[in-house]
Amino acid sequence: MKQFVDKLFNNQEFNKKELLEFINKIDEETKDYLFEQACKKRDEVYGRVVFFRGLIEFTNYCKSNCYYCGIRRSNNNADRYRLSLNELLKCCDYGYKAGFRTFVLQGGEDAYFTDNKIKEIVSVIKDKYPECAITLSIGEKSYESYKMFFDAGADRFLLRHETAQAAHYKKLHPSEQTLENRKKCLYNLKEIGYQVGAGFMVGSPYQKLENMVEDLMFLKELSPHMVGLGPFIPHVDTPFKDMKAGSVDMTLIMLALVRLILPEVLLPATTALNSIHEKGRELGLKAGANVIMPNLSPKEVREKYTLYNNKNISGLEAAEYKEAITKEIAKIGLKLVVDRGDHVSMK
Ligand code: 5AD
Repeated sequence: MKQFVDKLFNNQEFNKKELLEFINKIDEETKDYLFEQACKKRDEVYGRVVFFRGLIEFTNYCKSNCYYCGIRRSNNNADRYRLSLNELLKCCDYGYKAGFRTFVLQGGEDAYFTDNKIKEIVSVIKDKYPECAITLSIGEKSYESYKMFFDAGADRFLLRHETAQAAHYKKLHPSEQTLENRKKCLYNLKEIGYQVGAGFMVGSPYQKLENMVEDLMFLKELSPHMVGLGPFIPHVDTPFKDMKAGSVDMTLIMLALVRLILPEVLLPATTALNSIHEKGRELGLKAGANVIMPNLSPKEVREKYTLYNNKNISGLEAAEYKEAITKEIAKIGLKLVVDRGDHVSMK
């Protein structure tokens, strides 16, 4: 078993069958070794540092209807909100002062925010904070729209592929959403020149180990700059309300495997992971993650942006939170950096 970890560590070829067998049979000892080697790889590439991104959840209106997601169109219980440009700028201003150099603008697929509005938001923020990176996470758009946002100053884009197998994708989404289009969007984003983030949920309904093997193979092929990966957590107002949440253990195994398969990847210890385990963030960092995305959204809206239940919402302001995390990660020998935190290939 350890040999397979070494193989990944040494960047040797592997196939789906070996990967599946490894995940299937992994024991405690191998798991520890896997995490250790994943951290070693991260440290080799980036050093023992953690990058910070300020997350601004600017709208929870969504025209999509993903079966797993709490802000899906058909959820009439969702308390919808949008931030104005002014409110958005306040979040950035506050974040900037607290030392954030990346702003992640995340939202549902909200038609109110037309391409021109997004373009304006990006240009205004970029103008005010030229040394900061702007990340968009606003779903599927056309090549032209993505290009327009990029030209306006957006640097990065997060769009999880959710699952790399078409039949499984269909079980998680209504028929108007297709894996084909998702993948096309991801390749378009790459072509335009964004630093791109893909990713998937661990333990999503109907997921088999084979699906995650496909996810890892797809990530290897796409070779994104970032990978967002967290456990599925059911939301009461969705068709998947009675489904089981993903496991902490499997999430950590996936994080470590992604680190070894894509050594240069920027890999967050996600809020979802920290929501199903009180030490989720720390465990994620010990499995090879190197990014944390604290919430810069106004406190009043944090609870409304509910993709899943029991979201671990910090009541702390970003600056206090940053201080708390700095202390927490110092205990495991990691240091927070105030920096855009670009992918190594961009330096
Ligand atoms: N549990 C965990 N993650 C979720 N997401 C959406 N709904 C859930 C859920 N119920 C993830 C999706 C999406 C990202 C923004 O949040 O992977 O891409």
